[in-house]
Amino acid sequence: MRDRSLAYTEAEDDLLVKQHSPLMSPLVWDLAHVGNYEELWVLREAGGITPLRPEIDDIYDAFKTPRKDRPSLPFLGPAEARRYIEGVRGRVLDVLDRVDLEGPSPLHRDGFVFGLVIQHEHQHDETMLATLQLSGQPGLVREGELPPGRPGGPDEVHVPAGRFLMGTDTLPWAYDNERPATWVDLPGYWIDRLPVGNAAYAAFIEDGGYDDQRFWTPEGWQWRQRKGITAPLFWTKDGGTWHRSRFGRTEPVPMDEPVQHVSWYEADAYARWAGKRLPTEAEWEKACGWDQVAGRARRYPWGESDPGPSLANLGHRAARPAPLGAYPGGASPYGAEQMVGDVWEWTSSWFQAYPGFRSFPYKEYSEVFFGEEYRVLRGGSWAADPAAVRTTFRNWDYPIRRQIFTGFRCARSELV
Ligand SMILES: [Fe+2]
Repeated sequence: MRDRSLAYTEAEDDLLVKQHSPLMSPLVWDLAHVGNYEELWVLREAGGITPLRPEIDDIYDAFKTPRKDRPSLPFLGPAEARRYIEGVRGRVLDVLDRVDLEGPSPLHRDGFVFGLVIQHEHQHDETMLATLQLSGQPGLVREGELPPGRPGGPDEVHVPAGRFLMGTDTLPWAYDNERPATWVDLPGYWIDRLPVGNAAYAAFIEDGGYDDQRFWTPEGWQWRQRKGITAPLFWTKDGGTWHRSRFGRTEPVPMDEPVQHVSWYEADAYARWAGKRLPTEAEWEKACGWDQVAGRARRYPWGESDPGPSLANLGHRAARPAPLGAYPGGASPYGAEQMVGDVWEWTSSWFQAYPGFRSFPYKEYSEVFFGEEYRVLRGGSWAADPAAVRTTFRNWDYPIRRQIFTGFRCARSELV
């Protein structure tokens, strides 16, 4: 993770201190923020060490200054930020040596506090990639090889009616919003075997999907009209062919990849056009990880083993989603593929607490976001690290957001 944080900030100072979009922080802010968070939680809270630089806490408190205002903060410059995070990391290793991971503190138990800062840094690595994509600067992001796609196969898989255990009580690094585990009874439904691909999405556009109000919610239609949205973010049409800009390069849109950079409103409109709907969060999670035969949930769709390169596209192996059908070995018990990795997937659900939720270790992690403002995203993208992805993991964002690496798949209720 640290190698990723450093790699994404291996650029000219100008690029690091500049704000590339009001939606994002300057890259160097993210870099020192991950170190400051690590200092707060591991050194101070878990290790009882006195603050190294208390005067910078306010600068790096994400709740004190919204992203759009961060360029005006007196944040550390690139060289100083690197020195600071290195100093923190050196002391973290001392704390790791003397903290009792079996002790009574819930912050220490099973290394939760280390899981907290590790996942936090990985999440910021993904945020930094989104910033680099918005910057339009070529040559900063590593590319890599992915397995080939696999055409054919059924469009949908069937999930029979029945109870499943949603969320977790046992995964040690799970966040408060994934807890407690709850039995949920669902009617039967069909869910797309794969995320919606660029070819299908282009067909929606060509069919006038963006111009037909019937497919859109009133809020979605208003947003689409006001912003003049006619295609996914970073797409342009050139001589009858769709192109996309990806990390500073323009290329034809690969029709066999999952669509990414669409808002919840676009995903929802597409689903209606296709005669379907977005899955609820519960439907998504059941299709992803419930093993009906064993009567238990899997950590990943394929089981408990770590996501190797033949199972899922995670951790920035390449700077894009893999072609559709690239991971037959990563299929879920119900046969759904590419649920983990490639693109985050919008669900129809608001980000809400599970029954019995208890805030831990602080309210600003999840609780302050609950309500009817944010939609839930599931599954992690190609840019997400395996440590911060699992069947139960919940992400959330505003329905208008498109800079994140997000796509979707559709579902439909079983006919009765
Ligand atoms: Fe953060």
